[in-house]
Amino acid sequence: MPAELVLEARDLARRYASSAPPVLDGLDFSVRRGEIVAIIGRSGSGKSTLLNLIGQMDAPDRGRIRFAGADTSGWDDAARTRFRCRSLGFVFQAYNLLPTLTVRENIALPLELNGLRDDGAVTRLMAALGIDALGERYPEDLSGGEQQRTAVARALVHRPPLVIADEPTGNLDADTGHEVITVFERAVREAGAALVMATHSTEMVGHADRVLALVHGRLVDAAP
Ligand SMILES: Nc1ncnc2c1ncn2[C@@H]1O[C@H](COP(=O)(O)OP(=O)(O)OP(=O)(O)O)[C@@H](O)[C@H]1O
Ligand SMILES: [Mg+2]
Repeated sequence: MPAELVLEARDLARRYASSAPPVLDGLDFSVRRGEIVAIIGRSGSGKSTLLNLIGQMDAPDRGRIRFAGADTSGWDDAARTRFRCRSLGFVFQAYNLLPTLTVRENIALPLELNGLRDDGAVTRLMAALGIDALGERYPEDLSGGEQQRTAVARALVHRPPLVIADEPTGNLDADTGHEVITVFERAVREAGAALVMATHSTEMVGHADRVLALVHGRLVDAAP
């Protein structure tokens, strides 16, 4: 595998019930260092299913995923947890913020889990995302868009090589969505990280280097 490939998936298949048709069916995918890839497709086409597989939250029925050259199919739970903690930033469709932690504590969590010191990244990201006044608030007291921006900051704070985002601007107005994708793009390009995002937003798609559509369980090239 060429060194610049961050992640490569081959022949992925996933179905949720033996009676149901497969959601993913022989899907191939790869992303390079520094690349922003948008995945589009109708609701229910399998975008979240795919992101959960490449984020090691779920296992495929068939196929394999390589991360930084390593075959992940042999990983045990500890290796998967280590990958999610160190190498991955994940913005969930439903944010998944921890309710008992403040905004600042939620964002700083990946640093803490990795034993890293905060060099000011938490404050910088909060400012860049326009949530610097919300640091002491708890997730339940935030709007959907504010929770989303907190989740974006948390995904970037430890500068992971791979960032996965499931509809990262789904709950944002056009102006805020523009801010979020601008911060995302800058952080990804500066860190030389890769960003894989599922989105319905034409603006997000416009920031992508490549756009792929999920159709009948596979990815096909779509115009950027
Ligand atoms: N845990 C699950 N158990 C059973 N079926 C599931 C499960 N998760 C997803 N599905 C089904 O798999 C299909 C793909 O779902 P998925 O969430 O991946 O779609 P999506 O493209 O992310 O949609 P959206 O744009 O609405 O977020 C859907 O038909 C969904 O109902
Ligand atoms: Mg989804």
